[in-house]
Amino acid sequence: MSARIISGTEVAKQIREELKLEITELKSRHNLVPGLATILLGDDPASKSYIAGKEKTALALGIYSERIDLSASTTEAQLLDLIGKLNQDPKIHGILVQVPLPSHINETRVLYAIDPKKDVDGFHPVNLGRLMIGDPDFIPCTPYGIQQLLVRSGTKIDGAEVVIVGRSNLVGKPIANILMQKKEGANATVTICHTGTRDIASHTQRADILIVAAGRPKAITASMIKEGAVVIDVGVNRIGKTPAGKDILVGDVDFENVKDKAGAITPVPGGVGPMTITMLMLNTVKAAKIALGLS
Ligand SMILES: NC(=O)c1ccc[n+]([C@@H]2O[C@H](COP(=O)([O-])OP(=O)(O)OC[C@H]3O[C@@H](n4cnc5c(N)ncnc54)[C@H](OP(=O)(O)O)[C@@H]3O)[C@@H](O)[C@H]2O)c1
Repeated sequence: MSARIISGTEVAKQIREELKLEITELKSRHNLVPGLATILLGDDPASKSYIAGKEKTALALGIYSERIDLSASTTEAQLLDLIGKLNQDPKIHGILVQVPLPSHINETRVLYAIDPKKDVDGFHPVNLGRLMIGDPDFIPCTPYGIQQLLVRSGTKIDGAEVVIVGRSNLVGKPIANILMQKKEGANATVTICHTGTRDIASHTQRADILIVAAGRPKAITASMIKEGAVVIDVGVNRIGKTPAGKDILVGDVDFENVKDKAGAITPVPGGVGPMTITMLMLNTVKAAKIALGLS
């Protein structure tokens, strides 16, 4: 039997509709327009397209968007100065610096410079620490999107065996922290696998929910999963170009074979990807509400 497809495109659309209503209400009731500043250094095509997507989504939802494109030779001091100004700017509630940054800039220093109350990416150590103790303001967007995909697709998380492949600060560690909390939409038993794990299949085969963020095409094959498992494929791997010159994207899961054994699965593209931008917008709205004392 073929797995049910969990469409990130559909769930993201649903959340965006909810956000539109909330933004309209914030404007009419509180004269509050959530504001997002995005900063891009250089002209890496993938980063440019991510930033363009974020700007387009923000504008479509009624979020004030300030896009700041800087040259790759911008100094760290100049970037820190700009962040300092945005930290003080009352129109801006969320600040996003697109990574990776050019190698002459220390990413950690830049990340630490963002006011935690405007850190809508959720990567500031204050926000990651608060996530760990179960009291977050901002949850990193991709893992937050994964949780919403699970919740909104009706997946039972409470008591589930969750296995995560990948332990990055961006995906693996935060999603583990989210799903292990004693809360609704969580309360799972969580295992994290990585390149140091002995016999990965012995873990993945136990998973009721398998989340894969390894960045390796076909890292997960059908023999590695349990019949009926819910599989969330976070991977985005560019494996070539179409004749028209578009990137061919695949996830980390051998989709064609795994879909016949899984109970539900996210596609790539159209799975986790659309959720990431949507959760950034949700965090921006939350930041605006916090700024006004509404949240
Ligand atoms: N859709 C989205 O919005 C979105 C957002 C973020 C990331 N992604 C995608 O998700 C993937 C992961 O991203 P990331 O930033 O988390 O990557 P990352 O920083 O490269 O981390 C990859 C993790 O996977 C582990 N790993 C790699 N190969 C493995 C294998 N064969 N078996 C077990 N573990 C393995 C690594 O282990 P070690 O720690 O031992 O090296 C590491 O912990 C990438 O394809 C990325 O493009 C998508």
